[in-house]
Amino acid sequence: MRSRMNWKVLVVGFLMTLTLVDVRAASNSTLNKVREKKARIVEKLKRDFRKLKKQDGAVKLVGGGNGEHEGNVEILHDGKWGSVCDDEWDYLEANVVCRQLGFDGAIKPTSNGHFGQARRRYWMDNVYCDGSEDELSKCRFDGWGASDCGGGEAAGVICTRDQQDRENEDNKGMTERKPKTKSEKRRVKDIHQQGVAIRLVGGRVYSEGRVEVKLGNSDWGVVCGDGWSLFEAAVVCRQLGLGYASDAVQTNFFGGQRTPVAISGVQCHGDEDGLIDCLHDKLLDCPGSVENVASVVCLRDMPDLVFDHIELMRTAHLEDRQLYWLQCAMEENCVASQAYKVQKESDNWHLETRRLLRFTARILNAGTADFRPSVPKHLWEWHMCHMHYHSMEVFATFDVLDQNGTRLAEGHKASFCLEDNQCLPGVEPRYKCANYGDQGISVNCSDVYKHNIDCQWVDISELAPGEYIFKVAVNPEFKVGEMSFDNNAAICRLLYTESFAAVHSCVMGRP
Ligand SMILES: *[C@@H]1O[C@H](CO)[C@@H](O)[C@H](O)[C@H]1NC(C)=O
Ligand SMILES: *[C@@H]1O[C@H](CO)[C@@H](O)[C@H](O)[C@H]1NC(C)=O
Ligand SMILES: *[C@@H]1O[C@H](CO)[C@@H](O)[C@H](O)[C@H]1NC(C)=O
Repeated sequence: MRSRMNWKVLVVGFLMTLTLVDVRAASNSTLNKVREKKARIVEKLKRDFRKLKKQDGAVKLVGGGNGEHEGNVEILHDGKWGSVCDDEWDYLEANVVCRQLGFDGAIKPTSNGHFGQARRRYWMDNVYCDGSEDELSKCRFDGWGASDCGGGEAAGVICTRDQQDRENEDNKGMTERKPKTKSEKRRVKDIHQQGVAIRLVGGRVYSEGRVEVKLGNSDWGVVCGDGWSLFEAAVVCRQLGLGYASDAVQTNFFGGQRTPVAISGVQCHGDEDGLIDCLHDKLLDCPGSVENVASVVCLRDMPDLVFDHIELMRTAHLEDRQLYWLQCAMEENCVASQAYKVQKESDNWHLETRRLLRFTARILNAGTADFRPSVPKHLWEWHMCHMHYHSMEVFATFDVLDQNGTRLAEGHKASFCLEDNQCLPGVEPRYKCANYGDQGISVNCSDVYKHNIDCQWVDISELAPGEYIFKVAVNPEFKVGEMSFDNNAAICRLLYTESFAAVHSCVMGRP
């Protein structure tokens, strides 16, 4: 036995020596060739793995200019690729997509058609992942094809690239001299110092149309629609003295498909006085279709929702509640995903308790026009449990974050029915949910969701005691235009002990 093993060791050692000699003898160039070939094979394997699954639920990224690691998300279902809507799209979902594609994770989620308009019908909307899923299709969403989204609401991701990819790309860049500044953004006025003129063209009335800009002495051109949102539109409307942005669209409805694109990647905070103070791509980059023209609709009268943070601080408290009493809430996704696991795994699940952070949400319309839901009435969803129609999928979000801004407790999918609950003296309430009534919030009226109604909470059962940030936001996805979004969120501190919770030190901010 022993002698046989020695013999084996000897053979292996001999072979290794041979290889070593072989390698030594090989010239540097063959060595490099072997190394390159190996790298190419590894790379191809990786790519194949990413494209591997052509079956239901496979995802791919489209429209990204800088490589395979970014783009709008498309998902395969029923043999057809479809887009994903950006409602409730954030890091958790982006991470699942990136990992499904074989990347380590996500750098960031993108919305508003960051990589161009949705090219296909939406397969998914209101996607909610808890982060443990290995595929996007395993996350919760509204059902295949159920979506209320427009073409400009495509969800996308930018994934972290692994070392190998980066090296390959860098090498390519060196040999092909590819510009690597594509995504670099600069202030418009720093690049175009000869001045920038701006106008609206092609609208039915003077206060709408496609946006055209004139850089110095060059001809008028359109603005690339990629990433065009209400914040950029707000700046255009303000600069032209036309009031506030009611709509920001990526469309050729107002023409412009034959006009050259002047600038792309425009990105404003929303409070700039003119487009020249916003950022844009240093190098023009508008890979999408010619229909993708940035357009706006401006209005003088607009709603302006203000979240009442005083009422929030006054009413926040804990409640422990058995799942038995939360079945309606479970149907509407108002509890953390752990609750669904408990329901599946335990026979006595209805006796398990959940810890809820309850509070009152009071939202005043301090603008000059009524706040109306973004979805037309015939598309409202009837919710059996709560016996009313939902007119807006995401009217508000409630989030518990750690000090770094990472979301800990699930901000549930708030279900809302907009109505006038309290009005200032002299104002008649007009909107009522009952009987398929018109939904909305009148000027100087408040929509109030009292702390004791169903779903008016955050499920913090899995949260450890500690100090956190509590953030409540209304109209968080900017689906409806407002005068300002800077008063739509209350960003507060949450002190949570084993038996007690207090929300304090709120500041107003943007969702
Ligand atoms: C490979 O090249 C390096 C420097 O380029 C040289 O020092 C080395 O001796 C070469 N090795 C062989 C096996 O040719
Ligand atoms: C926040 O980020 C810092 C630095 O990245 C890290 O050291 C710290 O652990 C993070 N804190 C939490 C609560 O995640
Ligand atoms: C709303 O209230 C403000 C301040 O109290 C007042 O100036 C404004 O005229 C009111 N608007 C309407 C439409 O009632």
